[in-house]
Amino acid sequence: MKTTTLSFAIAAAVFTTTANADDAVDWAKDIWPFIENSCVNCHKAEYTDETTGRVKKPKAELRYDGKKFILKGGENNDEEPTLTPGDPEKSAILQRTLLDPEHDDFMPSSDKYDPLTPEQQKLLETWIKQGADFGDWVGATE
Ligand code: HEC
Repeated sequence: MKTTTLSFAIAAAVFTTTANADDAVDWAKDIWPFIENSCVNCHKAEYTDETTGRVKKPKAELRYDGKKFILKGGENNDEEPTLTPGDPEKSAILQRTLLDPEHDDFMPSSDKYDPLTPEQQKLLETWIKQGADFGDWVGATE
């Protein structure tokens, strides 16, 4: 009897700790932290660089610091949509990170920023497949 109880406990533990592809991925908790870390410095609101005094514009007119900007996408959004809820293949926010790091279009485009890990790419893919729900997160609005 003891053995049975123990194997059941182990089975239950394994079951609960194994990542389930159907678990809802949470933008604010699971995705935003690594997007902020790897993408936002080049894709955010226009600002003036303190040291050079130069005005920095978001690269490719693409901003990742607010929901409405992510949904709007960048300057080439018609040909290369940044985010298509439900369709990871048509979401450059993921596809550009999957390219060979030597590729011209690979993101992040500078090695000063962390490339996404396979786990992060998987989370992003699952979140897009699940419909790209931002929950309560709004981020920057202007
Ligand atoms: C070091 C600055 C830098 C970082 C960090 C960066 N990007 Fe970019 N991004 C650029 C530049 C420059 C372009 C314009 C050239 C191009 O399209 O490749 C661009 C363009 C893009 C485009 C094309 C938008 C359009 O409509 O043309 C996407 C999508 C994109 N980046 C996604 C990302 C993602 C996702 C991350 C984080 C994983 C990221 N970028 C991080 C500099 C950066």
